[in-house]
Amino acid sequence: MKPEITNLPDDEMPDELRARLLDAMRGVFSGDQRRIDHAMKVLAYAGEILAGENENTSPKVVVTAAILHDIGIPQAELKYGSAAGKYQEIEGPPIAREILATRGFDERTIEHVCRIIANHHSDRDIDTPEFRIIWDADWLVNIAAEASIADSESLRKRIEKVFKTSTGKRIAERIYLERKMT
Ligand SMILES: [Fe+2]
Repeated sequence: MKPEITNLPDDEMPDELRARLLDAMRGVFSGDQRRIDHAMKVLAYAGEILAGENENTSPKVVVTAAILHDIGIPQAELKYGSAAGKYQEIEGPPIAREILATRGFDERTIEHVCRIIANHHSDRDIDTPEFRIIWDADWLVNIAAEASIADSESLRKRIEKVFKTSTGKRIAERIYLERKMT
């Protein structure tokens, strides 16, 4: 297939390309609305964090990784009967690479996005601003499960411990702590 996008600058993420990635993600999740909703929420939080951070960060990498971060789940379930993070981290990158390569993404972006996906549960060997944003956006959605059971003090400690960006931390406090105290 002929690549659709070539040499897109880091600071550009056209709506059309974003829509194509969303379509690809929906296709891989084949109508699993819970997974699709999760990706959309992570994408929205990633955008909010991105807007609040001053670091030199590539919106192209952030948006792409947010949409595709869980893309290995169906294959992990098929192969191992489990969506555990370690399996997602193995199965996700080749699927993301295929999606991105056929849409003409440059190798540097593909490599970065794949490394983010390969680390998004374990945080093993990457520490870029884009990774920290995806990490926090995913936690902003996933900490909700813990927020309902934890008391304010342990929740505050948890937020302090898991979040990597000051914007992510601030959003977590706003959503989970301030609401809890009122
Ligand atoms: Fe995941």
